[in-house]
Amino acid sequence: MTIDLRGRHFLKEIDFTADELRALLDLAARLKAAPRHRTQHLERFNIALIFEKTSTRTRCAFETAAHRQGAQVTYIDPVSSQIGHKESFADTAKVLSRFFDGIEFRGADQSSIETLAANSSVPVWNGLTDQWHPTQMLADFLTMREHAGTTDDSQLSYAYLGDARNNMGNSLLIMGALLGSDVRLGAPKSLWPAEDVIARAQELAEKSGARITITEDVAEAVSGAQFVHTDVWVSMGEPKEVWKSRIELLSPYRVTADVMAQTGRADSKFMHCLPALHDTETALGKSIAAEYGLKEGVEVSSDVFASELNIAFDQAENRMHTIEAVLVATLVGIPA
Ligand code: CP
Ligand code: NVA
Repeated sequence: MTIDLRGRHFLKEIDFTADELRALLDLAARLKAAPRHRTQHLERFNIALIFEKTSTRTRCAFETAAHRQGAQVTYIDPVSSQIGHKESFADTAKVLSRFFDGIEFRGADQSSIETLAANSSVPVWNGLTDQWHPTQMLADFLTMREHAGTTDDSQLSYAYLGDARNNMGNSLLIMGALLGSDVRLGAPKSLWPAEDVIARAQELAEKSGARITITEDVAEAVSGAQFVHTDVWVSMGEPKEVWKSRIELLSPYRVTADVMAQTGRADSKFMHCLPALHDTETALGKSIAAEYGLKEGVEVSSDVFASELNIAFDQAENRMHTIEAVLVATLVGIPA
């Protein structure tokens, strides 16, 4: 089957079929394996990168992926541009589509990027919203494929522990449901994904053969899972006052050596989209340690983060290879 993604937006996983997502993953693996002096598919292309929220990996992955393919990028933030406060997303999209071949957007509401895309004549890519993190999903799946030694996503089994009603929880649930994986979410009920997201995942699972488990029980969530994911307990845009209640709710879900052992698998690996709070080396890590006494890590313990089980840096590298695949596939099509 030929997959043609030219001109498509990449706003959320659910907009894509399993075959389309697999084609992006396969292309990412091909681009990663290709020599550095390979053909550049995006020479003289111009790409806009809009960041309403801060970023290290996503911005750098888009920039390096674009440069590896010969494209130029322009970085835009709300402070130094008119976006949001003085010019609507619709007008911004109409203007930027006249200059650029594609637009990346990171912001709070999914509705902003949907409006941007509806008014753009060039592809729009989601670099994270409160609801979804689709480019992260491609990196996570490429990394799991590599470590599991398979391109059959139905063979992948993973658990996500922590705040499951945010971008990472939603995206890991839906992506696995689409691709037929064994997906487990371990979180207190108040932090489960919205009911419509769970219903959609169950519906997709019936078609794909995915196994979906959503539980408050850590042991049930991780038992038999090869990969254990987590994410920060308080996401960008949430007030710092939330930390107290989040720590109370999520402390039993910290990924520790004991939790990793509860997978019962010798080949288990730890994953995190990063940035992670795993020590007191950052200003935030230090203030959480001072206020709540969590010196040895917050969502993940220092020993697990420092161990061989941690494949989060492979995951980070794969942001670049997978974003390169998204740019090439949506701008010029999947090369033969
Ligand atoms: N994982 C991720 O999106 O990282 P950044 O916030 O640094 O882009
Ligand atoms: N849930 C996190 C993901 C960061 C990549 C956040 O939104 O801050």
